Amino acid sequence: MNNHRIVVTAHGGPEVLQLIEEELPLPGPGEVRVRVQAAGVSAYDLMSRRSGMLPGSPKIPYTPGLDVVGVVDALGADVSSIELGQSVAAGTVKLGTGGYSEFLCLPAGELFPLPPGLDPAKAVCLVINYVTAHAMLHGGAGVQAGERVLIHGAAGGVGSALVQLGGLAGLEMYGTASAAGQEAVRALGATPIDYRNEDFVARIRELTGDGVDVVFDPIGGGAQLRRSYKALREGGRLIWFGVAGSRGVGGIAATVLTRFFLSLNPDSKTAPMPPDAWESVRDSLPLLFGLLAEGKIDPLVAARLPLAEAAEAHRILERGGYAGKLVLLPDPPAGLGEEPIAG
Ligand SMILES: NC(=O)c1ccc[n+]([C@@H]2O[C@H](COP(=O)([O-])OP(=O)(O)OC[C@H]3O[C@@H](n4cnc5c(N)ncnc54)[C@H](OP(=O)(O)O)[C@@H]3O)[C@@H](O)[C@H]2O)c1
Repeated sequence: MNNHRIVVTAHGGPEVLQLIEEELPLPGPGEVRVRVQAAGVSAYDLMSRRSGMLPGSPKIPYTPGLDVVGVVDALGADVSSIELGQSVAAGTVKLGTGGYSEFLCLPAGELFPLPPGLDPAKAVCLVINYVTAHAMLHGGAGVQAGERVLIHGAAGGVGSALVQLGGLAGLEMYGTASAAGQEAVRALGATPIDYRNEDFVARIRELTGDGVDVVFDPIGGGAQLRRSYKALREGGRLIWFGVAGSRGVGGIAATVLTRFFLSLNPDSKTAPMPPDAWESVRDSLPLLFGLLAEGKIDPLVAARLPLAEAAEAHRILERGGYAGKLVLLPDPPAGLGEEPIAG
């Protein structure tokens, strides 16, 4: 049996995602081999595919993908903490490897065991998106029940996770999304704002009077951050944590500088540095798997596509207008890929 994985061969459009075939990798000492069942697709994959300028971008050629769920199918020497057949999840971003692959060798100590019976496509949504959302809500903003929050990109991967976890935390929520995401945002429990056709600052004032306690902003850009800050009421916090809306080094630099200058404002509002979400993963991910197993959260899967259709997943990502997270299935059920399915 061979391994198949996606490789980015040059920076550019979705066509640079190439499927390659190679020998099955063998786990080294302390490693296990994971047969991947679900690999997450994210805005970060898109940004690093387009350009190597994003901080921490992998060097060409590389396999993209930040998060996987799968089953342990081979053990390297000196591994006693994990058994063959165990379902596991991993974040691959700090492990120097990417998730768009049928098989991956990963350090046993970096794996998170899954409770039995979880849908791999839903479980993979938790690894980065829900861990990030949890960190921004609790570590970044320190939200309290009853507070009002505005979540940008509320139909997206991290955004929809913020809305679901915000609902559990008892927040009053508003969420920006394009027209296609409005229903999903409402169904998750937030009041949608169509950011392409409405001025979100004016709409927040209209809906709340004096603004919100917290804005979660993964969109970035100088003008966007200043407007998010404007949507805050007295004592409010701006939690910026991404640049989904800014292209190129200039956009990223403008975002970072704007956040810094806003944090110096002598008013009662704050714009702190966001936490490193991965630092809390050992506490948050087991907790989140528990919530999924108990049915208290239900991640939105925008579409499930075969691994070989990674380029199509990136085209969907570029078009936007989907709700939730795109997931690649290396071993898809028969018929999948003829038409992407949601849920
Ligand atoms: N700091 C961290 O630890 C961390 C971790 C994970 C992700 N992130 C960052 O979080 C961001 C989102 O990642 P993701 O994977 O969730 O992406 P995603 O699924 O592509 O979601 C992005 C969403 O943003 C929306 N959007 C685009 N421009 C917008 C605007 N101007 N106003 C409001 N919404 C807008 C899109 O909605 P429409 O399609 O409806 O336009 C889409 O739903 C990325 O920047 C990523 O790098 C940060």
